[in-house]
Amino acid sequence: MSYETIVGRSKDDFEKYQAQGTGYVGKHIVGTGEDAHMTTKVMFDLLRPHMILITGKRGTGKSYLGGILVEEFCQLPEETRKNMAVVLIDTMGIFWSMKFPNEQQFQDLEGWKLQPKAMDNVKVYAPQAQMAEFEASGIPVDHGFSIAPYEFSAEDWLLAFNLSRTDPVGIALEKNINQMFEKGDKFSISDMITKIRDDSDTSTDVKNAAENLLTVANQWGVFSEEGANVDFMVQPGQVSVVDVSRLRSSQAWSVRNLLVAIIARRIYQMRLVARKEEEIAKITGEPVKDKKPLVWMVIDEAHNFIPSEYDTVSSEPLKVISKQGREPGVSLTVITQMPNKIHQDILSQTDVVFSYRLTSRDDLAALHSVMQTYHSDDLWKYISTLPRWPGAAIVLDDNLEKIFTVAIRPRLSWHAGGTAVVM
Ligand SMILES: Nc1ncnc2c1ncn2[C@@H]1O[C@H](COP(=O)(O)OP(=O)(O)OP(=O)(O)O)[C@@H](O)[C@H]1O
Ligand SMILES: [Mg+2]
Repeated sequence: MSYETIVGRSKDDFEKYQAQGTGYVGKHIVGTGEDAHMTTKVMFDLLRPHMILITGKRGTGKSYLGGILVEEFCQLPEETRKNMAVVLIDTMGIFWSMKFPNEQQFQDLEGWKLQPKAMDNVKVYAPQAQMAEFEASGIPVDHGFSIAPYEFSAEDWLLAFNLSRTDPVGIALEKNINQMFEKGDKFSISDMITKIRDDSDTSTDVKNAAENLLTVANQWGVFSEEGANVDFMVQPGQVSVVDVSRLRSSQAWSVRNLLVAIIARRIYQMRLVARKEEEIAKITGEPVKDKKPLVWMVIDEAHNFIPSEYDTVSSEPLKVISKQGREPGVSLTVITQMPNKIHQDILSQTDVVFSYRLTSRDDLAALHSVMQTYHSDDLWKYISTLPRWPGAAIVLDDNLEKIFTVAIRPRLSWHAGGTAVVM
């Protein structure tokens, strides 16, 4: 008898919901080498919060698969979809194209009895100061965003600038930022520069170094006194693509990390409050006053935000989501070429892995740390015998305690991240 596998759905949930609230990601691959062929459908659970890792070598289809999961969210029935929101951190500037149908792989789609389709629920957010640049290059941006300097603690700033608390510049920044917080006013980066300049206890060299860092930060084009309105990015039934690909300064990653830190913290806080209200509503039988959707954060090139070997400003907020996100309903999907460069706290919380080809033993060891019920030699066997088709991957599912091979389906919407060719 043929049956569908629902990745991420426990037996109990299957009894309760059957195949409701699932997305179509691909088909099972049976056999290896010349004998490999596709069989039954592989679905994905979209009802429960998950910690998903998508990994594999360069150009194997990771971002592409991130897009497929999002497409399936977009195609959920309205009454389910409106209870959820997706926030996708786009470091490569490739997800805006989901607004267009995938005409370029028309034939692949036909082979799967699927048709190109544009996703209507995708909205693109870009740094306010770069809106004109995005528009000039024909990228359909919907909204601008900014962040405010006072949304970050002195400790956040030190992490963003990669300064230790004993570094003289770190000491000067920490002291002055804390004094500004004590005053309780909102402040701009120019205010921070003035404050440090007026600090009579700090040497001119240190002041110059701090001023230099802050001046560069000011040129990033993401700071305003308005501040981040993350609520505005979390919209019921909507996919918000936060495009941070065009931040070009030498410290572009510092800005991206600050942004992800604030987005992750706000989402988590918003859901904690919402969860309490939902519980109260259940007890009293009254409707929830200010209903907030469950949130699913998707982060491409995630090793930059939650690296294994050092802390960035976004490390802590993402660890909190991975460890405690299930209860308030925050899901996280991390995409990376190098699973061993992702912090162990994330790996140990992962319940679903999609992995394309990997060749390094270190990366394999990282996968093994996600699911230790399998021997690493078995994992290696699965990975090394994957057919060389685009989209062939292994799935490790901790909910089903299963490992299997899948052919990921073609995208319905346009994927802008294809490999470049010279001609
Ligand atoms: N399931 C699939 N069906 C058809 N084509 C696919 C599939 N998966 C990937 N591809 C092809 O592979 C290309 C590269 O995929 P993608 O951009 O997702 O790579 P990546 O793993 O994110 O690479 P990088 O590590 O460089 O970011 C896609 O443009 C697409 O043409
Ligand atoms: Mg990619």
